[in-house]
Parts: sequence; C-alpha cells; structure tokens
Amino acid sequence: MVKVTVCGAAGGIGQPLSLLLKLNPQVTELALFDIVNAKGVAADLSHINTPAVVTGYQPANKEDKTAVVESLRGTDLVIIPAGVPRKPGMTRADLFNINASIIRDLVANIGRTAPNAAILIISNPVNSTVPIAAEVLKKLGVFNPKKLFGVTTLDSVRAETFLADLLNVSPGSLQGRISVIGGHSGDTIVPLINASPEVARKVSNLTTDQYNKFINRVQYGGDEVVKAKNGAGSATLSMAYAGYRFAENVLASLAGKESTAAIPDSSYIYLPGIPGGKELSTKYLKGVDFFSVPVVLEQGQIKSFINPFEILKVTEGETKLVQVALEGLAKSIDQGTAFV
Ligand code: APR
Repeated sequence: MVKVTVCGAAGGIGQPLSLLLKLNPQVTELALFDIVNAKGVAADLSHINTPAVVTGYQPANKEDKTAVVESLRGTDLVIIPAGVPRKPGMTRADLFNINASIIRDLVANIGRTAPNAAILIISNPVNSTVPIAAEVLKKLGVFNPKKLFGVTTLDSVRAETFLADLLNVSPGSLQGRISVIGGHSGDTIVPLINASPEVARKVSNLTTDQYNKFINRVQYGGDEVVKAKNGAGSATLSMAYAGYRFAENVLASLAGKESTAAIPDSSYIYLPGIPGGKELSTKYLKGVDFFSVPVVLEQGQIKSFINPFEILKVTEGETKLVQVALEGLAKSIDQGTAFV
C-alpha cells in the first residue's frame, strides 16, 4: 500500500506528473491537491485502468485547510510542484517571493499531518525552497534530512540528452553515467561528465568550445523552454518526466529494490543530516550545507550519498565550476533559511 500526494497537481507539471504516477503499479492511492481544479484532474485520471485510486482535494475557500490535510493524511510520499512558473526575463530567484510562502505553508501542513512522509520539492527556486522546508520542519521538531529531497533530476536528464547529442550516442546510454551536482539554477549547476572511463574517452575528443557550450546549455537549458513558450511558462513535460524518474527511485526503494545504476540520480539534500555529510560540506564545500549529490536510497529515504570528490574523478575545470556554484548556493540557502 503506497499513498502518494501531489501538491499543485492541476498545474503544467502537476498534471503530467500525476499521469505518470497513475501508471505506476506500486501506487495504490494517488491524492491530488491543488487550490483549483484538483477534482477535475482526479476525475479524469481515475478513468485509467490502473490500480491507484485517485482522489482530488481542493479548498472550498481561502481559509479552508481540510482539503490539504485530507490529501496528506497517511501519505508515504509528497511531491510538490505547486507555485508559479517562470516567465521570460524572470530568473528562478525572481520566483522566490511568491513560491517561498507557498512552500512554507504546504510543508508546515506536511510536518503536522504526515511527519514521516518523504518530501520531493520541485517548486523553484529549489536552492532556496528546500532550505525553507528544512527550517519549517525543524521548527516543528519533525525534520528528517533523509526524507527531504530537492528534485534536480531535470539537470541530469538535460545533461544526458545534450551530451548524447554531442557524442552521437543514444541518450539512454548516458543515464547514470553523468552526475550533476551543486544546485538547480544557472551556474550553481555542475555537470560531472568524466564519471566513467568510456564516456571520458569520448569527451576528451570534444573541443574546449564544445565542452563549454555543453556546460552552459545544461546550466541555462531551462531558459530555452521559457523563451520558446513565450510567456506561457517554463518546462513542464520534461520536468514532470524528471520528477517522476526521481519519484520512481523512491518508490522502488520503498519496495526494497536496490538501484542498479552505475551512479544513482542526484538530489539536493541537507548534508549534515546524512552520515559523512558534514565532512563533505566542511572539507570540499566551504561549509555549504545544501548540495545536490548522487543519493543511495533505502526504504524511501537516503541511506548514503556518493562523495563526488572522493569517488568520482573531479577535474580541475569542474572544481572551478563548483567554486562558482558555492557562492550562489550560499546566498540562496541563507535567503531561504532567513525567510522562515
Ligand atoms: N497549494 C497547492 N497548489 C498551488 C498553490 C498552493 N498554495 N499555489 C499554487 N498552486 C498550484 C496552481 O493552482 C497550479 O495548478 O500550483 C500549480 C502550478 O502550476 P503552473 O502554474 O502550471 O506552474 P508549473 O509550470 O507547473 O510550475 C510550478 O514548478 O518547476 C517549478 O518553476 C516552477 O515553481 C514552478 C513550479
């Protein structure tokens, strides 16, 4: 029996993400919460002939808290793509003021109603919304760092796609072969592409210009979508796919399955809450505590992480990218923590 709750389920990300979750045979109950149209989306999805029972929850008015509480009761996994998307000219940081309070309030409800649930945060800016969630849960006395995840999988998906394109190999072949670490916005995103000898050999044939363009495209790939959608929002379908890919990892771990990936997907986590995390932060990250690293999951939570600097080969160039990332991250984390 696995209950999954999606908060922001009627949105551009929420709808396709909910569809993918409805197709997962492990999910027995799918609770869709949104401030609008959750019941409509739930009715629609409920006609699909897979086991998950789908229910929609939406508040009757602004003061009504019963809908969100009911959607969260007894849930194992909460995925949050609630908020406003990015419009042209907006950075993910511009979203902060609106999305910060949405995350704060939703996570407070999760902490009170479903303190043992794993929480996957998609709402941007992830670099700040995850620290906000951590702070809220800390204040409620229910913070389990092993169960709080910032979803950065889209950066890995993009890196796999864009690099495969450059190397002329199939994109699927690079899954688990590139690690994206750091944060989830612009130059806080650091793709490590020398993770396996076979990939490294091919990458060494790229020109510096090709390599730099690749890094830049992974870091700012979201802008391509924002521009092409021309006012209609940011990435939704690729983000839903990426969010589902990470959720699938969590669901598999709940079923006791071990990942077979060469390198598991990364997630933006609170390092000091994971064994060895404080050391990673102090030794390599100038004390920055929230950072995306490949995570090994067990029973719906983080069992361990892969220290990129000790297990993967980090080049001098990549080390420089990490230094740049740390500056941006430190600011976004402080902004998030101070908000609560
Ligand atoms: N509780 C629940 N749902 C909410 C709340 C709230 N407090 N506030 C807004 N929503 C819902 C909206 O009603 C909408 O259905 O969140 C959904 C957001 O959907 P879109 O506006 O289509 O935005 P989307 O493109 O899905 O992006 C959502 O994810 O990647 C991030 O940057 C993106 O922060 C943005 C978020």
